[in-house]
Amino acid sequence: MLKLIASENFASSAVLEATGSIFANKYAEGYPGARYYAGNEIVDELETLAIERLKALFGSEHANVQPYSGSPANQAVYRALLSARDKVMGLPLPEGGHLTHGWPVNFSGTDYQRIPYGLHEKTKQIDYDRLRETARRERPKLIWVGGTAYPRVFDYAATAEIASEVNSYLVADIAHISGLIVAGVHPNPVHHCDVVTSTSHKSIRGPRGGFILSKNEDRYQALYHPTSKYNLARRIDRAVFPQLQGGPHVHTIAALAVALQEAATPSFRTYGHQIVRNAKALAEALLDRGYDLVTGGTDNHMLILDLRDRPLSGKAYAERLAKAGIITNFNMVPGDPRDPAVTSGIRLGSPAVTSMGMREREMVQIAAFIDLVCRQPDDEEVHASVRRDVADFCTAFDVPGISDR
Ligand SMILES: Cc1ncc(COP(=O)(O)O)c(C=O)c1O
Repeated sequence: MLKLIASENFASSAVLEATGSIFANKYAEGYPGARYYAGNEIVDELETLAIERLKALFGSEHANVQPYSGSPANQAVYRALLSARDKVMGLPLPEGGHLTHGWPVNFSGTDYQRIPYGLHEKTKQIDYDRLRETARRERPKLIWVGGTAYPRVFDYAATAEIASEVNSYLVADIAHISGLIVAGVHPNPVHHCDVVTSTSHKSIRGPRGGFILSKNEDRYQALYHPTSKYNLARRIDRAVFPQLQGGPHVHTIAALAVALQEAATPSFRTYGHQIVRNAKALAEALLDRGYDLVTGGTDNHMLILDLRDRPLSGKAYAERLAKAGIITNFNMVPGDPRDPAVTSGIRLGSPAVTSMGMREREMVQIAAFIDLVCRQPDDEEVHASVRRDVADFCTAFDVPGISDR
């Protein structure tokens, strides 16, 4: 099987081992040095180690490693910074934003006023001029910068300038790209933002989980939180526990500490660079075969195939590709005429195949497999023969977490 889901990866066996370790047995409500359960001396050391590794990797003043995943991390940010019905600006889901950045069916869209900002009509990239205009008009209290299906670099300096102009918190969601940031192939938002959130299981190749980085002090404390006795870092911590969560998943924190050590090595830097080279090579090979890509290409680890002018939906193509052993997810494209449950796009990502050791040459072959299936989507013989070829093709590569056991 070829795993081309942009949000997935193969964690190392060391990370998986820590995830399944005896730390799963321990309750540790609270934070290092201030627990509500006894017997946490080693857990305190472990959580402090994960926090310090994160701070060092990203150059952050504060880190919280307890969020159960990316969505709870984002929920904690809302709790720490805003009151109900405050205005929140984010990239809408169909244009590449995440559910938690203000979407009607999500708490972020029902409990807060969502102010979407959009893409440039032609380039399909974030239109920072329009973002500024909307922010000046709406004066949101929080601006999200980040996304789940956005194949280009985010301009953190531009969004920081806009946020400061309108007294808004700026929060980067780096769930997808945290590994690329650590590897130095995507800019680091930490110095531009009040808060940064992430998952730990995508390009950074850690366990299923989340983390939050922040400044210690709140630059808008006097304006928005004049009666709070807690600074920004403490408010983030208190939002995670006790406001939203109970006991942290200590086994996940152990695995995160392992993953962060791996991410600090020169080989992870090489890995991050290869992720981007591979995504670009896959994009080029698909463009050569006549496919349309949202924004015309990629700067990061993902690409979005725009299939609006093809006979089937994104969902139908993803199902056909899966029959041929190519695992993707269907995804909305900007201006998508189809329902989110069907869509007109497919999102592809290079982190997992890069973890297997594949390089540009293999991306050209993967594009050929995809093309074969998409040209004859209903030919079961094609599915079966591509599936066999994919299986053969994959045998030359190791799968971290499986081959290295
Ligand atoms: C940008 C972004 N933020 C947050 C999340 C939420 O993470 P989780 O699924 O772990 O809750 C995702 C997940 O895909 C994401 O892409």
